[in-house]
Amino acid sequence: MSTTIERISAIDGNALAVRIDELARLSDDPACLTRLTLSPSHKKAASLVVEWMQEAGMQVRLDAAGNVIGRYEAQKPGAAKVIIASHIDTVRNAGRFDGNLGVITGIAVVDELNQQGKRLPFAIEVIAFSDEEGVRFASTLSGSRAIAGVFEASCLDDTDADGVSRRQALRDFGADPSKIEDAACNLVNTLAYLEVHIEQGPMLEARNLPLGIVTAINGATRGEVVVKGEAGHSGTLPMSMRRDAMTAAAEMILAIEARARRDADVVATVGRVEIPNGAVNIVPGLVKFSLDVRSSSDVARNRAVTDIEADLAKIAMARRVSAQFTASYDMPATICDAAIVGAMSRAFAQNGREPFMLGSGAGHDGMSFRGRIPVGMIFVRCRGGVSHNPAEYASPADMGAAARVLFDLLLDSGAFA
Ligand code: GLV
Ligand code: MN
Ligand code: MN
Repeated sequence: MSTTIERISAIDGNALAVRIDELARLSDDPACLTRLTLSPSHKKAASLVVEWMQEAGMQVRLDAAGNVIGRYEAQKPGAAKVIIASHIDTVRNAGRFDGNLGVITGIAVVDELNQQGKRLPFAIEVIAFSDEEGVRFASTLSGSRAIAGVFEASCLDDTDADGVSRRQALRDFGADPSKIEDAACNLVNTLAYLEVHIEQGPMLEARNLPLGIVTAINGATRGEVVVKGEAGHSGTLPMSMRRDAMTAAAEMILAIEARARRDADVVATVGRVEIPNGAVNIVPGLVKFSLDVRSSSDVARNRAVTDIEADLAKIAMARRVSAQFTASYDMPATICDAAIVGAMSRAFAQNGREPFMLGSGAGHDGMSFRGRIPVGMIFVRCRGGVSHNPAEYASPADMGAAARVLFDLLLDSGAFA
C-alpha cells in the first residue's frame, strides 16, 4: 500500500504562524519583543529573512539602507516588477504581527509560485524594510524612502538615545551609508507596491470579517515639543514663583488631547515625556515631549497642528515658560490606487470574501511611494483591535486567507496592466 504525502502549501496560515513565532524570538530584550531598527536582533531577523527568500527561489541582497530585497524573476528576465513589502523593525514591547506578517506573506506567495513552477509576466521583489516604526531615530520610513528615492541625507546624522548616529548604526548593521542613494529603485519599471498588514484597529473584528481592502493611509505629523522654565529647589521655591516646565507640559498635553477631541477626523498623541536631569527634589526646568498628529485629511491635520502650536504658546505665556514644537516628520495621506483596489475586490470575490473597504489610521511604508507608483494594501483582522502591544494577534486562518487573496491577485492578468 502506498501513501501520498500532500505538500503543505507555502501560503497555509499555520505555516505563516510558525514563521511569525520564529521571527518573534529575535529580540534585543529577552523579556519582550523589541527589535529596533539596525539593532543586533534586526540583523538576525534580516539573516533569517534572507534564508527564507533564498529557499523560496529568490535572488537576495541587502541594500545600503538595511533593507533585504529578494527578487523572483519574471517569465522574461528584466521585465517590470511588483513590490510586495513590509517591515521587520518593531516598537518596544511590540506585537509579533506588525510588519512581520507582510514580509512573510510576500515570501510565502513567491514560495508558492516557485513550488508550482510558475513565473509571471512581471518580476516580484519582496522587501523587508529596515525602519518603519521611527522609534530609535527621529526620522522614520527611512528604508522605504531610500528605495523610493526620497531619503534625505540629513537623516544619516540623526542620533539615538545613546548618541549613535544612523550612519554608524548602518555601518554596524553591515550596510554602507555612503551608497544610500544607490538603494533607490527604478520606479518607472515598477508596476505596484503591495502590502499585507495587520489592521491594528477594531473595524474588521467589529464586522466579523477576516480581511479588508485599504482605501487610504492617514497622513501624520510627528515631532518634539521642548518646554523651558527654570529649575529650582522643591523645598524652598514658593509655588507662586515657580516656572515649572513639567506642570506647563502637563497642561499642554491636556490641551493637545482636547484639540484632537474636537475633530472626529484627527488623533493626537503624546507618547514620550522626558525631564532631563529630573529628580524628586527639583522643580523641573526643562521638559521634552513627543507629539504625533494624524488624520485622513491633510487640511484637518495641518489645522490641528496650527491650533496646537497656538495653544502651546498661550499656556507657555501664562506660565512664564517657553515652548517650541519642531516637526521631524510630515507625511500627507496616501490614497490607494483605484485600479488595485478594484483588482483586490475581484480577488476577494473569487475567494467568496466581502471586499470591505477601510482607511488606515496607522502609518505604513507604502506612504513613501505616494504619488510615485500605485499603492495597495490588504488588512488582516486584529483581535480586540490591539496593536503595538504584545497581545497583538491575527489568527492563522485569517493570515492564510490574506496570503490566498494576494496570490490570486498576482495571477489576475489585468491587475497591473
Ligand atoms: C507605525 O506603526 C505608526 O503608524 O506609527
Ligand atoms: Mn507596521
Ligand atoms: Mn507599528
